[in-house]
Amino acid sequence: MERITIALAKGRPAKSTIELLKKTGSRFQDLHEDSRKLLFYNEDNTMKLIFVKALDVPTYVEKGAADIGIVGKDNIMESEADVYELLDLQIGKCMFAVAGKPNHTVPSGKPLTIATKYPNVARRHFQKKGQEIEVVKLNGSVELAPIIGLADYIVDIVETGNTLRENGLVVHEEMDAISTRLIVNKASFATKSKEVQQFIQQLRTAMEG
Ligand code: PRP
Ligand code: MG
Repeated sequence: MERITIALAKGRPAKSTIELLKKTGSRFQDLHEDSRKLLFYNEDNTMKLIFVKALDVPTYVEKGAADIGIVGKDNIMESEADVYELLDLQIGKCMFAVAGKPNHTVPSGKPLTIATKYPNVARRHFQKKGQEIEVVKLNGSVELAPIIGLADYIVDIVETGNTLRENGLVVHEEMDAISTRLIVNKASFATKSKEVQQFIQQLRTAMEG
């Protein structure tokens, strides 16, 4: 068996992913979501697990630094990485949305400004509608932007809707459904096909149980 390297997204969805991994029967020593360690091996050394920033997971997989990645669809879409997406883990469910103040309008002739952590996703979305936008790239708390007048709208993830509600904002347009996905490096899919398929099958079984 060839060893496979799996890149996991740090942060919010890590807990459910780790739980699912445990259900597959693979044992990684010291693995828990609060650990500061970034690299783990399973008992028989057939799997290496690395923890990376969510948006970097698709990059690790595209470049072959990891064979497999487990990461949110939001980051896969933003990265535009050339990888295979083979499984929906049905966790971390939320959606992309355009949101803003309830009655906000944009005077004609003025460019539409969108604040977001996801500039590529935002640009693609409005491009499809033939609308040009000016992106204000932020790294968090994007809900502040329409309130403060930094942007007309935001493109962001909505899960419970609490952040929007508590800041007096509403969804103007629902976009793509998001959840945690499994992605595979294109070369690894051919060269480590058996190992990759086996891992996917283990996850499928764990998801059913
Ligand atoms: C995420 C996202 C939304 C919020 C959605 O932010 O960017 O703001 O969660 O969840 P909700 O609909 O359940 O409120 P996060 O908490 O990750 O913080 P950040 O945007 O500041 O990074
Ligand atoms: Mg946020």
